[in-house]
Amino acid sequence: MELTINFLGKKLKNPLFLPSGIVTDISSHINAVKAGAGLVVLKSITLNPREGNALPRVVKFSSGFLNSVGLTNPGLKEGKKQIEELIKKSSVPVVISIFSTNIAEFKKIAQELIELKPFALELNLSCPNLRHETDVIISHQGKSSFEAVKGVKKVVGKLPVFAKLSPNVENIAEIAKWCQEGGADAISAINTVAPAMIIDIKKRKPALGAKFGGISGPAIKPIAIRCIYEIYEVVDIPILGMGGVSNWQDAVEMIMAGATLVGVGSSVYLNGWSVYEKIIEGLKKYLKDENFKNIKSLIGLAHKN
Ligand SMILES: Cc1cc2nc3c(=O)[nH]c(=O)nc-3n(C[C@H](O)[C@H](O)[C@H](O)COP(=O)(O)O)c2cc1C
Repeated sequence: MELTINFLGKKLKNPLFLPSGIVTDISSHINAVKAGAGLVVLKSITLNPREGNALPRVVKFSSGFLNSVGLTNPGLKEGKKQIEELIKKSSVPVVISIFSTNIAEFKKIAQELIELKPFALELNLSCPNLRHETDVIISHQGKSSFEAVKGVKKVVGKLPVFAKLSPNVENIAEIAKWCQEGGADAISAINTVAPAMIIDIKKRKPALGAKFGGISGPAIKPIAIRCIYEIYEVVDIPILGMGGVSNWQDAVEMIMAGATLVGVGSSVYLNGWSVYEKIIEGLKKYLKDENFKNIKSLIGLAHKN
């Protein structure tokens, strides 16, 4: 049984992808390729290098993780060289995630990256962890999301652009519609659920250096499923779903909600890179046992029954 899937004109070997930021170093993303992911999204890159937020940046709790990494990355100039190397090495499509708080800068970064010929650009419109630096979260408003996507689309020509959305809004489907209107080729959902806090009772203070962070992992899966279900109802473009997927059953659930591709992120921290192979095997067996011809026939199935 094959898990291949057509995604924006490219045949992927399976629907699993590594979401942005799960590994920080650009070169480390090759681990996801080796583990069997069908596509890889790189850690978000910014125009200038960023050290990141105060340590600790990731804390584990009973049902997931809280993080406030603060976009640690080498910046565009150095990052470009490393990304070029990675794209050369990768046997699967590579998506570059970019972050900015304003549209002019988003366009500038995007323009610089075209020559690397990535499979697509993902606009991180939804980072929740810069509260101390800026109060702008672009994907919290439909209009600003529309403008960011439209602005970048104008400079990148045919290169596909994904809009990465935040679950921390009243109506994520509405924002997704604005992004589609702006020319987005796909919606990526969801970013972490935020803001949240964990107190370290031994130290008697917030566990994260930045105090507040975003939740990922099993705790957020039902929120991700709901968001993807709602987005699927209103857009015609594919959805890269993510949030708490740890096993093949979670992946099936997310595809039935409407995702074309399924991100496996925090689960790598809990279960190691072998989680990709395990999910792939589980999906193959499921399709065979349930007499499905391919993965495509599962997409959005929960809306039809
Ligand atoms: C440590 C960490 C860093 C992250 N960094 C980014 C990032 O740079 N850009 C981004 O768009 N999302 C980032 N995310 C969010 C993930 O891409 C994903 O949306 C989220 O973790 C939900 O998926 P998961 O539950 O499978 O991890 C990060 C998540 C974690 C845990």
